[in-house]
Amino acid sequence: MTKKLDGKVAIVTGAASGMGKTIAELYAAEGAKVVAADFDADSLKRVVDGIKAADGNVSAVVTDMSKSDDIANMVDFAVKTYGTIDILVNNAGIMDNFKTVATADKDLWDRIMAVNLTGPFLAIHDAVKIMHNNPNGGVIVNNASIGGLGGSWGGAAYVASKHGLVGLTQNIAATLGMFSNIRANAIAPGGVNTNIAKTLTDIDPMGIKATGDPSNNPMGEPKDIAKLALFLGSDDSKFINGTTVTADGGVTA
Ligand SMILES: NC(=O)c1ccc[n+]([C@@H]2O[C@H](COP(=O)([O-])OP(=O)(O)OC[C@H]3O[C@@H](n4cnc5c(N)ncnc54)[C@H](O)[C@@H]3O)[C@@H](O)[C@H]2O)c1
Repeated sequence: MTKKLDGKVAIVTGAASGMGKTIAELYAAEGAKVVAADFDADSLKRVVDGIKAADGNVSAVVTDMSKSDDIANMVDFAVKTYGTIDILVNNAGIMDNFKTVATADKDLWDRIMAVNLTGPFLAIHDAVKIMHNNPNGGVIVNNASIGGLGGSWGGAAYVASKHGLVGLTQNIAATLGMFSNIRANAIAPGGVNTNIAKTLTDIDPMGIKATGDPSNNPMGEPKDIAKLALFLGSDDSKFINGTTVTADGGVTA
């Protein structure tokens, strides 16, 4: 039976945990050659070993998405290992403890922007050079957030970074989409059951208040988002370009 991503080369960032892990697993199960990238080398190895044990075609490249040299190396690695890049999933992202514009400082702002926005920009910048020479073009899937659509669901830096990622997605579609077969879409998940909550160590009470009580909200599972990333990465969505698909169980409806 034909698989949705047969023979496609896909980079997935933040592949050691949560949605990135599940996207990498699903892409490999659907026939993709997956370049799994993350800066957590031990967890990445466990994920890659699991995909290989399930007969998936996957290679790991330890990558810190806040470092431009690492990102350039990730793209080079994909081309050297598999010959091209068909799909780039910018999934790696970090939260900011819901710090408001009053309580966030420049270090936090710079860290969030580096991982959530500058890293994806650099990865896209490097990957589209390969995609332009690829007869099949290329597909970019950016994992944003419902924090990229409204003013809450994160602190000032997180919300600004995710709005930036949504805007970058639209700009790619509006510019590259006009004269190439490269397309870009974003996903805006609501609450999803991953490890990201464990990184919240010093939550700003004022910042989280704006989101209401998250325990009332429906929670998604990584697979719910991975299935959407599969649709957006595959030819099933070939006429969809520049959109952001919300997947939040209706929270923002
Ligand atoms: N979980 C949610 O409720 C939720 C909601 C909306 C959006 N998101 C977004 O989804 C994406 C995935 O998050 P998740 O919930 O699966 O989180 P997670 O914490 O379970 O996984 C994130 C992965 O990214 C990696 N990572 C972090 N910083 C990195 C860096 N500098 N370089 C390389 N890898 C790095 C981590 O090591 C981890 O493996 C993020 O962009 C996040 O903002 C999450």
